[in-house]
Amino acid sequence: MHAIIARTQLSPNVTRLDVAAPRIAEIRRPGQFVIVRRTEGAERIPLTIADANPDAGTLALVIQAVGKSTRELVALQPGDAIRDISGPLGVPTELIETGRALCIGGGVGTAVVHPIAQGLKRHGVQVVSIIGGRAKEWVIFESELHRLGEVLVCTDDGSYGRKGFVTDIARDVLAAGGIDIVYAVGPVPMMRATANLTRPLKVRTIVSLNPVMVDGTGMCGGCRVSVGGETRFACVDGPEFDGHQVDFELLGDRLGTYRAYEQQSLTRHEEACRIGPQP
Ligand code: NAD
Ligand code: FES
Repeated sequence: MHAIIARTQLSPNVTRLDVAAPRIAEIRRPGQFVIVRRTEGAERIPLTIADANPDAGTLALVIQAVGKSTRELVALQPGDAIRDISGPLGVPTELIETGRALCIGGGVGTAVVHPIAQGLKRHGVQVVSIIGGRAKEWVIFESELHRLGEVLVCTDDGSYGRKGFVTDIARDVLAAGGIDIVYAVGPVPMMRATANLTRPLKVRTIVSLNPVMVDGTGMCGGCRVSVGGETRFACVDGPEFDGHQVDFELLGDRLGTYRAYEQQSLTRHEEACRIGPQP
């Protein structure tokens, strides 16, 4: 069992849970993730390790509450516990050793960018972050990223920072030159748009993919993606890949495959919550 140590609401549907997982906290590296099961038999949910404190033995897990299982997870409070946490899983981020890196986080993807920026800073790389959200209250990890370098903020509605998408700011930063590598994490259209910006400039671009995952061990094939025309499994070969090689259209299609089932499950969950426990 992994105790919840702290719970923080980061945005209207994004929650941070600090959980006890000392062995993972000690060995995890940027870019890696865990798979959690809230209770025995519960759905397995892949979650980014947004931060870790090896001294306290805790992991910061960031959860976007979009379906039944994630809503149940974010309902946990300090003192509750998560049954299983397996990890760290996935290939650690390929971090450059010198130069200047542009880290781009769209919405909840900013939580994935944070440990990458931490790793880059530790290497002595100059970090510039661009982060964006739908509106001011959707912008997350701003102060944490400020500790690691310059941060440029935007919102879709202009309520905070520059009005526009993260790619609007990225276009200007890239045009000014001096960027050695881009790390971009967020919605699929955002990662695709970023890769389209950097491809003609020949700036290496790493994206973190979020296909449906089941076992997280390369056995079920659920997380397959196409990169450079080859099938790769995000759980064991990724989740980070060369953004110029990713087939984003296929990824978007596959993410949509289960949307109707997810909605059904959520509707049943909402009805059950409304009715309350039955005798
Ligand atoms: P969102 O839809 O609120 O968008 C966040 C920001 O991304 C926007 O404010 C904008 O700046 C940018 N953006 C959105 N669409 C864009 C476009 N077409 N072109 C350029 N920029 C665009 O994001 P959200 O609700 O926080 O959702 C985040 C998404 O990221 C979810 O779909 C989730 O599944 C995914 N996600 C990805 C990872 C990963 O590892 N890749 C991890 C967690 C979540
Ligand atoms: Fe099953 Fe990756 S989650 S192969």
